[in-house]
Amino acid sequence: MTDDPMVDAPFGLLAELTYRCPLACAYCSNPLNLDDYTEELGPADWIRVLTQARDLGVLQCHLSGGEPLLRRDLPEIVAAAHGLGLYTNLVTSAVGFGRRKAEQLRAAGLDHVQVSIQADAPALSDRIAGLRSFDRKIDAMRLVKELGWPLTVNVVLHRQNIDRIAEVLELAQEAGADRVELANTQYYGWAWRNRDALLPSREQLAQAELVVREARERLPMDVLYVIPDYYSRYPKPCMGGWASRQLTVTPNGDVLPCPAAQSLPLPRASVREASLAQIWADSPVMNAFRGTSWMPDPCHSCERREIDFGGCRCQAFQLTGDAARTDPVCHLSPDHALVTDAVRAANPGAPAGNLVPRPHRA
Ligand code: SF4
Ligand code: FES
Repeated sequence: MTDDPMVDAPFGLLAELTYRCPLACAYCSNPLNLDDYTEELGPADWIRVLTQARDLGVLQCHLSGGEPLLRRDLPEIVAAAHGLGLYTNLVTSAVGFGRRKAEQLRAAGLDHVQVSIQADAPALSDRIAGLRSFDRKIDAMRLVKELGWPLTVNVVLHRQNIDRIAEVLELAQEAGADRVELANTQYYGWAWRNRDALLPSREQLAQAELVVREARERLPMDVLYVIPDYYSRYPKPCMGGWASRQLTVTPNGDVLPCPAAQSLPLPRASVREASLAQIWADSPVMNAFRGTSWMPDPCHSCERREIDFGGCRCQAFQLTGDAARTDPVCHLSPDHALVTDAVRAANPGAPAGNLVPRPHRA
């Protein structure tokens, strides 16, 4: 636990074990400079990080990437997290989730599996993923249920698949999913580069919301729907506030309040040089936008400042070049036209432009 009474303990750790990935999704939120992250932490580093995270108060660990199954030491890392009493969630494309690996992870104590699919139909799913992978995903979902794990199916929504929500939900139900996350694309990393080809139209969104509302009443699964904030009046309370409840460790050991913050011009902090507790409490990157004192107007004097925390710092930086400005998604932001212009360009149903896939890395 942190000793500073002004700093809350983090609740969740996003452990980005690798940015290597066999898929090439154009909506990937991984950084554009993938080659700067090839010096990955080793298993002993990760076990030290997990131990320090647990001591800091972390309860949940999301093992993510890239594709975490590409790490041969994944069962060792899972076993360490499990031994520390952390709840472990594997966030995977399911490519590489064969029976042998699944049984190893079961024996290591993995608690939960989240499988991403790109669409309900093989050809569309494989096209979006940039790899023939649909059948393997279906097999992996069956295996998850057979081995007794809770299954979350995650679908990142965008202009090319948002019209398929009803069919995606049907597929998830047949797979025995306990929960479905329909998450509209967040525009960071590769998704930012491809934003104009990914942003859905207002008509697509209205139809999607109808389908979700009807499905929630009918289906036995939890259906989480994350709306695209470009169409919202107010921004999302990103990460529950900067360096408030979550932290991210990147493949090379950088510690960040959120996975997209590597793009911000802030001093780096690394688990190779300091403990997680020191970084969480004292580092400039964590303290840059903690609390409300950094806020400019209109946030500074706004009654919602402790509801949405001024929105997303990474989005503010991407859109304005200044991470300390009000998130332009907010209709009160002086930069709001940056968002309304993008929305106008996506309506009515502009033809999908060319997507730039993120490169495969194995
Ligand atoms: Fe949130 Fe700032 Fe907009 Fe107020 S002005 S709603 S605090 S983003
Ligand atoms: Fe970084 Fe929102 S993604 S603060």
